[in-house]
Amino acid sequence: MKKQLFAMAFVGLSYLGNAQNLVTLQADSGKVTINKHIYGHFAEHLGTCIYGGFYVGENNTKIPNKDGVRLDIVDALKKLKIPNLRWPGGCFADTYHWKDGIGPKAQRPAMVNTWWGGVTEDNSFGTHDFLNMCELLGTEPYISGNVGSGTVQELKDWTQYINLAAGTSPMSKLREQNGREKPWNVAIWGVGNEAWGCGGNMTADYYANIYRQYATFMAGADKKGLFRVASGASDADYKWTETLMKNIPHQMLEGVAIHHYSVLSWGEGQKTSATEYTDKEYFKTMQQALLMDELVTKHSEVMDKYDPKKKVALVVDEWGGWYNVENGTNPGFLFQQNTMRDAMIAGATLNIFNNHADRVRMANLAQVVNVLQAVILTKEEKMLLTPTYHVMEMYNVHQDATLLPIKVKSNDFVFEGEKLPAVSVSASKDAKGLTHISLTNVDPKNPQEITIDLKGAKYVSVSGRILTAEKLRDHNTFDNPNKIQPKAFSGATISGNQLKVKLPAFSVAVLELK
Ligand code: AHR
Repeated sequence: MKKQLFAMAFVGLSYLGNAQNLVTLQADSGKVTINKHIYGHFAEHLGTCIYGGFYVGENNTKIPNKDGVRLDIVDALKKLKIPNLRWPGGCFADTYHWKDGIGPKAQRPAMVNTWWGGVTEDNSFGTHDFLNMCELLGTEPYISGNVGSGTVQELKDWTQYINLAAGTSPMSKLREQNGREKPWNVAIWGVGNEAWGCGGNMTADYYANIYRQYATFMAGADKKGLFRVASGASDADYKWTETLMKNIPHQMLEGVAIHHYSVLSWGEGQKTSATEYTDKEYFKTMQQALLMDELVTKHSEVMDKYDPKKKVALVVDEWGGWYNVENGTNPGFLFQQNTMRDAMIAGATLNIFNNHADRVRMANLAQVVNVLQAVILTKEEKMLLTPTYHVMEMYNVHQDATLLPIKVKSNDFVFEGEKLPAVSVSASKDAKGLTHISLTNVDPKNPQEITIDLKGAKYVSVSGRILTAEKLRDHNTFDNPNKIQPKAFSGATISGNQLKVKLPAFSVAVLELK
């Protein structure tokens, strides 16, 4: 009898171990477009993101460049299809006076970058350099205006300098004198950044009033108009969002931001190592990453109260993992390595954004080169693509595609009595009629078998790519830059209206169904 009970318990346990993850995909009822701007990036004057990252200087003969901008980075970002690039900050934006960054470089005044390492900023990379670089990248600029220490006049002048037609105003004439006749027509503008903190330590009420004042005088881009983003809440500060939605007239508000980082502690040196994290730190980081679902859900609910037709976008213009800096690097430069943990953050977060595409219409990973969860790291002439780069490249099939509704029942990733859903999924149908499904398994030990019930369409074939590695802490290095890269995936099979997927531990896959 004892033996029998043991056998039954064993059967039960092994059943639990192999429990199925169940997904239902409704292939014929997509209504919402996944805005390509969800796949945006962020370049701040911080550490070696701009200087020594993107921008190596016009006189650099060792690294191929155009007007000082590294061409290997341009190529890599073009392949990524980055839809927009946020600049010049972050916290730096509220210290930046744009007129210091135009005209002959030798005559530009210097300043101190007070937020990031106290280094001297010589203003050699300014408005023209950034906007010409965006043209080279084929990406839309997203400029953060200085509200914290700037003036209404200064932001008004900047928008006119960039957007008004040649010969129409003193600002457009100044632009022409500096060598650019045509306006750049920049639509996306942030009205300050983190106004509750580094952007001026304002209250929400005060900022809402200031926003109205600044936004009133900004000059629109030809035909496109403006897409103005209010400096939004940190994490779960729903009160902040509510105050902005209530107090700012919606005809002068196109987006409200939020920032959320996957960080375990804000103390300097008290975060986790980027590469040598414990299993517990991995779990806690995933908890922070998956919290994004709750945050965007609840901020959206607040917005729904004031904007039921969802005209104002929720813009997550800073997100990603934030760890201790690499040994021997300037703590103010936020340079960190990027392992499969970062691939997990990226895969799960992008699935969350896709599934909330009705309200989340723009987002910016922090940051693009050499800072925080970067997609590219550089060391003098060398450059590498991080696991995060590969996830964003695999997922770019979702840009501007129609979101397909899904329901997911996931197994748990259990750690010391706490649990998280192991599997996250999102799906879309593109303009050519191809269906893409992206799946992430954040469980570092257990592979997942996933059954996807395909409703409303007949598919005959499935192919895909997968990103995984031997070890969770693996990463690409300057000596071994291609250790982690996507490979063809053969773990998915279709039979009738069922798709079965075998997803290895800590992996991200994107499938294409025809
Ligand atoms: O991305 C780094 C910093 O994080 C940004 O400058 C700021 O907005 C945020 O606190």
